[in-house]
Amino acid sequence: MLLFAHILHFCALNYLFMAINIAILASGSGSNAEKIIKHLRNKEIGTVKAVISNKKDAFVLQRAANLGVKSYVFNKKEWESGKNIIHLLSELHIDFIVLAGFLLKVPKSLIDNYTNRIINIHPALLPKFGGKGMYGDFVHQAVLTSKETESGITIHYVNEEYDQGSIILQKKCPVYPNDTVSTLATRIHTLEHTYFPLVVEELISKL
Ligand code: GRF
Repeated sequence: MLLFAHILHFCALNYLFMAINIAILASGSGSNAEKIIKHLRNKEIGTVKAVISNKKDAFVLQRAANLGVKSYVFNKKEWESGKNIIHLLSELHIDFIVLAGFLLKVPKSLIDNYTNRIINIHPALLPKFGGKGMYGDFVHQAVLTSKETESGITIHYVNEEYDQGSIILQKKCPVYPNDTVSTLATRIHTLEHTYFPLVVEELISKL
């Protein structure tokens, strides 16, 4: 009986300290993915198990390889159905999903499987400058065109609508009259690289 209690206690402790497995979905350069991977690398709380993309030539795949993280690519049809992706996620025991510059819509089946466990980063202050087609430089150009005096980043949960899940964190930065898409993008990236890894760490610590 006592032995049984010890085993139960051991299992419970083990469960408590089990690292959270993370998958990062990305379609492009992957600078945010790299920051998150490096931030969690020497921590016990969680680990990036996979980088998953829809583009076989995305630079994020190169970054993942350099950092020793496995990567996977699925085609458009597979992303629409979600079946193969969910299969992979369950095989890898993924607990939490981070979208870092992922350009396709997340399949509904995936959202249903990971309620409140999928987050995204958007390079502007939602709800402004969000929605379909609002990504990357298009966002910064729209901010400049509408003569905003500030922009920033939004980290939010993912639901079925582009950029409409509940907001977790926003951080602002100034937009200067002489800004170009490139200078603004650099300022925004700096904010993203500072806060995104911290938010991921904070959220997985509560799982
Ligand atoms: C970031 O600006 C992010 O806000 C947006 O896509 C960009 C990805 O940049 N969703 P990177 O590929 O991480 O450099």
